[in-house]
Formats: sequence, C-alpha cells, structure tokens
Amino acid sequence: MDRAARAEYLRAIGIELWVPRHPPEGGPQSEAAPVPVPADAGATASDGHSVDARWQALWSEVRDCARCPLHESRTQGVLGVGNREANWMVIGEAPGAEEDRRGEPFVGRAGQLLDAMLRAIGLSRGANVYIANILKSRPPGNRDPKPEEVAACLPYLHRQIELVRPKLLLAVGRIAAQTLLSSDAPLARLRGGVHHFGERNTPLVVTYHPAYLLRSPADKRKAWEDLKFARGVMAQIDGDRT
Ligand code: URA
Repeated sequence: MDRAARAEYLRAIGIELWVPRHPPEGGPQSEAAPVPVPADAGATASDGHSVDARWQALWSEVRDCARCPLHESRTQGVLGVGNREANWMVIGEAPGAEEDRRGEPFVGRAGQLLDAMLRAIGLSRGANVYIANILKSRPPGNRDPKPEEVAACLPYLHRQIELVRPKLLLAVGRIAAQTLLSSDAPLARLRGGVHHFGERNTPLVVTYHPAYLLRSPADKRKAWEDLKFARGVMAQIDGDRT
C-alpha cells in the first residue's frame, strides 16, 4: 500500500499524519462482501465430516440456538463474516442493533471504523479477514454479556476458530480479550504483547473496541500502534514459516 493510501485510511480512522494529502480515488469501498466459498469446502476433517458440512452444522445450530434467554429478544443469530480461510480473525463482543437486524457482525458505526482500521493495515473482511463475536445473540440495550451467556455461547466461537484456523487472532475490546485469555486484567495490561489462545497456541493480539474509539478518539493513535504491532507479529509468523 502506498503512503498516500495509508494516510487516507488513517485519516478515515481519525489519525492525521503530517504528509501531503491526495484526494481519495473512488470513495469508501463497500465492505458487505459475500462470504467466499472456501476452496477446501469438500475437504474432510478428522471427524469424518467435510469442512463445509461442519460450517453448515454450526450455522444451523446458531440459527436455532436457545442455549440462553437472549434468543427470546434477538432477531437472529449472528455467526460471522469474511473469508473462512483467512489468516486474520477478528473477535468482538456481541451483535448490536444493526448487526441483529442484518445478521452480520460489525455493520454499524463501530463496524465502519473497524473496516477502516483493517484497511489501514491492508486487510478487508471480504478478502483476508474473518470476523466473529463472543456472543452470537444481541444482549438487549447492548449491555455487557453475562457470564452464563458467554459460557453458553463460547463453544460456537471455539468451533469457528477451529474451522478457520487463523494464523493470528485480534481481540477487539475488553470483553473479547478477557474472555479469550480467561483473564480479568484490564485492557491496558493486555495490549502491547503477544498472547496465545487454545490448543494450537494461536498468537493473539489485543486492541481497543472500535465502539470505544468512537467515544474516545484520543486513543485511536494507540489502536494504530496495536495494529502495526499485530501486522509485525503476522510478518514474523510468515517469516518463520518460509
Ligand atoms: N460490536 C461488537 O463487538 N460486535 C459487533 O458485531 C458489533 C458491535
């Protein structure tokens, strides 16, 4: 990505750089890209079911889920979006009003900021990122998830992570970070380092939730540091494998 494009994306996030500005070409991209059919849809996993069949089973379970009372107030379950073979997996908290209505994670204002943040490091949900949440159902009034809701829903996310097998997890916000790391440390202590998740020890980096950044734009610069850090971690992972 050239410097002008990066500066433009950073400006969209709300970070000004002291570089000459160029007008954007085209305008913002539409991010509501369809979920690509995975290239290994016919591949068979160790349990004997094809990867595609496992995605289908997961989706129908989430669609019909009644494991916690949130199913009574939600419009629909929200599973995930993006490339199912992505190297990057972003994990947020729970669907909000717009996500509940449209059935896709991060499509409201916070989602637009998330897309801009991802673009700033050369990523997009249609191409090289898969996005999911800790909860698949919207908590009323966007309150914090209750521990029993997280406990009921988390197995779905574990299955998603196992299906995508990302090289790097990016946890956005306190709820996602604390849940995935089984920690009650504040976000400030979880940022700035590489953690590991699950049996595969998948590297995990923590940053701010875009909804928080909309309320506290002064922290966008720190989020940008986190994204550059995550990009460096991914470069190192790729370097280690070549
Ligand atoms: N906030 C989240 O954490 N996830 C969404 O999908 C939308 C807003």
